[in-house]
Amino acid sequence: MKPTQALERQHACDRQGSRAPIGRPLKASPHKSAALLLAWACLQFGAGPGLAGEIEVLHWWTSGGEARAAQALKASMQAKGHSWKDFAVAGSGGDSAITVLKSRVVSGNAPAAAQIKGPSLQAWANEGVLASINDVAKAERWDELLPKVVSEQMKYRGDYIAVPVNVHRVNWLWVNPVVFARTGAKVPSNWDEFFAAAETLKKAGVIALAHGGQSWQDLTLFETVALGVGGPEFYQQALVQRDLEALSGPTMEKVLSTYKRIKPYTDKNAPGRDWNLATAMVIRGEAGMQLMGDWAKGEFLAAGSLPGKGFICAPAPSTSKAFIFVIDSFAMFKLKTAANTAAQKDLASAVMSPEFQEVFNLNKGSIPVRMGMKMDKFDDCAKASAQEFTAAAKSASLLPSVANGMAVTSPIEWALKDAVSQFWNSDKMSSAEAIKRIVAAAKSR
Ligand code: GAL
Repeated sequence: MKPTQALERQHACDRQGSRAPIGRPLKASPHKSAALLLAWACLQFGAGPGLAGEIEVLHWWTSGGEARAAQALKASMQAKGHSWKDFAVAGSGGDSAITVLKSRVVSGNAPAAAQIKGPSLQAWANEGVLASINDVAKAERWDELLPKVVSEQMKYRGDYIAVPVNVHRVNWLWVNPVVFARTGAKVPSNWDEFFAAAETLKKAGVIALAHGGQSWQDLTLFETVALGVGGPEFYQQALVQRDLEALSGPTMEKVLSTYKRIKPYTDKNAPGRDWNLATAMVIRGEAGMQLMGDWAKGEFLAAGSLPGKGFICAPAPSTSKAFIFVIDSFAMFKLKTAANTAAQKDLASAVMSPEFQEVFNLNKGSIPVRMGMKMDKFDDCAKASAQEFTAAAKSASLLPSVANGMAVTSPIEWALKDAVSQFWNSDKMSSAEAIKRIVAAAKSR
């Protein structure tokens, strides 16, 4: 580390440290301000001289809750003396971010790390652009700290090329309890109850379901319906294995008709809406429910809404015993300087640390991916998620999200998003026609 950088880090930490509340330990809180986060990071990560570099991280965590979570990462890197170059590309679901990343990599100007997940990790590694972080992983015994299904996804030919951040559960229903109490709607546990609650809300003049009409959200809703209506085995066969019979059979027809039955309970301004704006409608009481992954919880918390009071989390209808997962991870790119490579390794190490796993996930709405973490600071939604994750793994009900990059390659994912979205948005398309398009998408390369 250059002496000036070491001094800068010292000063940044000193300044922040002097602002930290005296006599009160800096506990992880979902409501940390940026200054508090840096003070926290100085305490957790400030020690240890090293080579200071620049760390540029591509992500799409730009909404309220997501930005707070990303801030925790920035603070931990700054506390280690590295300079942080934020490469945030707005556009939920990451569709725009990945397009920008491709052009940066093609022009030989890759960031240190990028939010890449699922099968795409292997596709990027195949291009020869990712770097091994095996030395960090070996020294810190990641193989023992991660579930095997996760560690395997983070490796390419036996070497870690990515670090996992969290576990999100997709199949959640978010409810505004004040609206429910006012209208007499009951929190649904199956699809019949869902439509009964939706009807009650609609009659009371409330938007029943806040939806964002973007293709990744249309597919996120679709996979949740597919799980609820068809069950875990159907989900696995039809959406993950893309088995022709399952994709075109009677269960698929039932999934499609249930999916389409939801549409009249969304509002006419849904097309194009970001998911966090849909969450905001539930927070404000303009809408009664949202079906969305638990990154939505980060929005409730960032808005000061408390679990059980401002919002209720319930498993999406008929999915209480299953878990559609998204595991966010950072892929590491080959870099040109030793200082930046050192900073990249510090990033990998920080992400896997228990301190970071706790503070990040408290803000993000997800649960730690590192095993053996204490959950006492987490709310009931996160505790339920952690329990279900373990239980679902034992009963073959732990399923990768198709809509959020965990199950299929990205060309297939895009084709499925298009096909399902066209069906959602059409007034005329029959189930038979939708099935034809979904099968074609599932079989695309
Ligand atoms: C997912 C990602 C989540 C969340 C969400 C909305 O793809 O895995 O972490 O960011 O998009 O932006």
